[in-house]
Amino acid sequence: MTAVALTVNGERVSAEVEPRTHLGDFLREQLRLTGTHLGCEHGVCGACTVLIDGQPARSCLTFAVACDGLDVRTIEGFEDDPPMAALREAFSREHGLQCGFCTPGMLIAARDIVLRLPDADERRVRVELSGNLCRCTGYLGIVNAVRSVLEQRRAGGTPAPVAAAALAAAAPAGFTPAAAPAVAPMVAAADAPARQGWTRFAETFVIAQPPAVVWAALADFPVVAACLPGAELTEHDARTVKGRLHVKLGPMQAAFAGSAVIERDDASLTGTAKGAGGDNASRSRTRAELTYRLTSEGAGTRIAVAVEYDLQGPLAQFSRSGLAQELGRRIVGVFAANLNARLSGGGAAVAPAALSAGRLVWQAIWARVKALLGLR
Ligand code: FES
Ligand code: FES
Repeated sequence: MTAVALTVNGERVSAEVEPRTHLGDFLREQLRLTGTHLGCEHGVCGACTVLIDGQPARSCLTFAVACDGLDVRTIEGFEDDPPMAALREAFSREHGLQCGFCTPGMLIAARDIVLRLPDADERRVRVELSGNLCRCTGYLGIVNAVRSVLEQRRAGGTPAPVAAAALAAAAPAGFTPAAAPAVAPMVAAADAPARQGWTRFAETFVIAQPPAVVWAALADFPVVAACLPGAELTEHDARTVKGRLHVKLGPMQAAFAGSAVIERDDASLTGTAKGAGGDNASRSRTRAELTYRLTSEGAGTRIAVAVEYDLQGPLAQFSRSGLAQELGRRIVGVFAANLNARLSGGGAAVAPAALSAGRLVWQAIWARVKALLGLR
């Protein structure tokens, strides 16, 4: 058993939990907060959505011990919250619920939309709600309820938004959270708020080869693809690449087919890649922009990477949590390990043929748990 201390609905809570206990079970079984519902228990349905440090998160995918020191808010914690009061009234008025099983998670996701995207139109509301499944309503009443609250707020009918605190994600093991001084301006830009609806993360890592070698390797697109887990290069010339990215997320598999344009500046050793793609099977689409800069670090090279992406469709549910950003960092880490191994004469350190996001997510969670338990 492990001691955990967190804030739940404004009250300090200390408890002993098994390291494997997920937050949803902890809330329901130890704290008796049964408003958080558990449906699929593997991150797909959204019924278990709560706020962790102000960000919607799947409580079935989050270990209770990973919430040590964090602020958790469940559906029971919105008694005096004006946006939630308006949503509850609107769900009732617009017939946005029947059995009510999805409703706690749906309301928390809806409140996030109302506060974060005040100008959202119907399409945007539907995209944002695509990570919450309802088996009863057909969604029309839910969408109408959210839209009606957005309209009320635009007309000045409900109080101003509450700022959401950023999810305090622990840096995964093996990565350097701080940027070197030479790359600080770029990282500062990466830390700026992402454009509306996009997710952004930044990471830096060191390759044990001089900048000229690394710069040349990054222009070799087959080498880059071979180091990137799940990537498959189908066509390329000096500036454009086409290919697929294979991702496995629990029961869902996706193969994003797309293309990207690469710009590189030899003088500043900076590059950008702008691309878009889609997966027909899951009807998900993505746009992404990646920026990188190389600087010398001893005999090696530090690479600062900033990634910004927009994911739409059923897989969009995975793009808003801290875990999605942690997953992105894990992918960058695997890429760094593979590039290091390749440039030092070895093969890929990690097989890049298939990207199991589930596996990487669990690695990320496990890294957090190990850090909390002081394990190596
Ligand atoms: S129970 Fe967590 S997403 Fe379904
Ligand atoms: S109201 Fe029954 S699942 Fe949504």
